[in-house]
Amino acid sequence: MEKGKVFVALDVSSRAEALAIVRELKGLGAGWKIGKQLFTREGPALVKEIVGMGEDVFLDLKYHDIPNTVAQAGLAAAALGVKIFNVHAAGGRSMMLETRRMLDALPERPLILAVTVLTSLGEEDLREIGYHDTPAQQVARLARLAEESGLDGVVASPLEIEIIRSVTHPSFKILTPGIRPANGEKGDQKRIATPAAAVAAGADYLVVGRPITQSSDRKKAFLDIRAEIRNG
Ligand code: C5P
Repeated sequence: MEKGKVFVALDVSSRAEALAIVRELKGLGAGWKIGKQLFTREGPALVKEIVGMGEDVFLDLKYHDIPNTVAQAGLAAAALGVKIFNVHAAGGRSMMLETRRMLDALPERPLILAVTVLTSLGEEDLREIGYHDTPAQQVARLARLAEESGLDGVVASPLEIEIIRSVTHPSFKILTPGIRPANGEKGDQKRIATPAAAVAAGADYLVVGRPITQSSDRKKAFLDIRAEIRNG
């Protein structure tokens, strides 16, 4: 997948809404992020349907469980034909190693990304769950652990890219949500970057939701974002 590829977050509640967005933007080179909201409503059938249209899907279910369970879930994701799925790095080294090992047996496998620290958690929240490092230290530690455990990259806020790049190999992938076009509204996102700034900082792939899906002209919104990325 090419650097700068944009995955559109299908944060909707029905197959009809999701397919309306996919059909509107099909052919422009977008990928699609399917997360817990849509997956829990529509299940693997919709993932297969979108993959069957020739589209690239990132299955954002953030697996976090014992090694065998996560590895088996990863195999199931691969069988759906998704290009990317993710796990919580906090699930630990064995969980990530086992997932990578099982997926390596396939002729072709999806990229496996790690979530480090949820960006909704601040320093106080982390202390409450027993993490005494700063969020940045914790992000760096978990990114290193994910790389050592054979994962392909991480999901990270634009503001974390620099610290992750400082502790991982340049080929380690970074996929970045929290993107707002230069002229856009922030909505509830706080730690944001423009598409061009995120790619310049070292993001490989971007996730963009509402600035595209809630636009009155989704095609234009998508193409404007891609132009911003290409023109820097
Ligand atoms: O609509 P918006 O562009 O804010 O959507 C961003 C998507 O990325 C949502 O699906 C959101 O859950 C996800 N995400 C995020 N921040 C993170 C991790 C995931 O916004 N740190």
